[in-house]
Amino acid sequence: MKRILTGDRPTGKLHLGHFVGSLANRVKLQREYECFFIIADLHTLTTKPEQTSSLKENIYQMVLDYLSIGIDPKKATIYIQSQIPEVTELAVIFGNLTTVPRLERMPTLKDVMRDADIKIPSYGLLGYPVLQAADILMVKGELVPVGKDQVSHIEVTREIARDFNRTYEAIFPEPKPLVGEIPTLPGTDGAMKMSKSVGNVINLSDSPEEVEKKVMSMYTDPTRIRVTDPGHIEGNPVFTYLDAFGSESDREQITKYEELYRTGQVGDIEVKKYLVKVLNNFLDPIRKKRTEYANQPELMEKILKEGTEKARTEAQKTLEEVKKAMKLDYFH
Ligand code: TRP
Repeated sequence: MKRILTGDRPTGKLHLGHFVGSLANRVKLQREYECFFIIADLHTLTTKPEQTSSLKENIYQMVLDYLSIGIDPKKATIYIQSQIPEVTELAVIFGNLTTVPRLERMPTLKDVMRDADIKIPSYGLLGYPVLQAADILMVKGELVPVGKDQVSHIEVTREIARDFNRTYEAIFPEPKPLVGEIPTLPGTDGAMKMSKSVGNVINLSDSPEEVEKKVMSMYTDPTRIRVTDPGHIEGNPVFTYLDAFGSESDREQITKYEELYRTGQVGDIEVKKYLVKVLNNFLDPIRKKRTEYANQPELMEKILKEGTEKARTEAQKTLEEVKKAMKLDYFH
């Protein structure tokens, strides 16, 4: 069975943007692929090395998010990056297969530095994509469901795999990114991207009341002053969300609202109220599962522990192969 590897930094709760970008694909593909989901806690150190005390709680919340959207711990292996020393070992080896200018050119580096107000990147931040390549290749992941912003990192992974295979021995696949149907979900403020650091998110764990509050104050069509003004669907996040989260049975009503909105026959408030309903219908089963798992902390710990053990066995196998290919297996 081919393998999927993907993961997230444990920075807090996951939101609707994560869902359409990558999480939905993970749930969909967990029957066809052997899945590994890495909780990339070491990656959080690249921007916030001092913020380690919140990691444990963030990891817990993220695993709850995973399980509540339907990731099945019997099928998928969920594990913690920092508990697998082989990952960092592989990252050191991979660090020699890419160049500093290649990493300096990463578009994500500029974005992260701007958002986190970092003037000069640390060695670790520059090496972020190298560590990510180690995550992916450690389990020989072939498909990587990610948000659009991560595609450039998968390209670095492919280059490193190619270089390793050429230099030593062909042991790694060249992984492919898989971006969700809606590559970037806009924020509730109309910004291009839903992002925790901007604060324009709807979390998978938001209560019905929180969802209502956020939706009712959402950005819509700024050119529309009166209800009778023709409105724009394009670039209007209310309609983007309806499209993304409406179920089959909502389709007819959504098309109707689109038509009425375009022709100035329905107000923002009515459409927003409908969106609240659509989103809460989508989130209700997720909330229910979340509560079930949250009531079983021992089970959560067991899932993570067993996942980490299993991933580590895989990591040890790969590293042994790597060392053999590199003729670093001195004591065999
Ligand atoms: N960089 C990813 C993000 O910020 C998280 C991540 C770490 C990851 N390691 C990975 C994603 C390996 C895919 C594969 O979203």
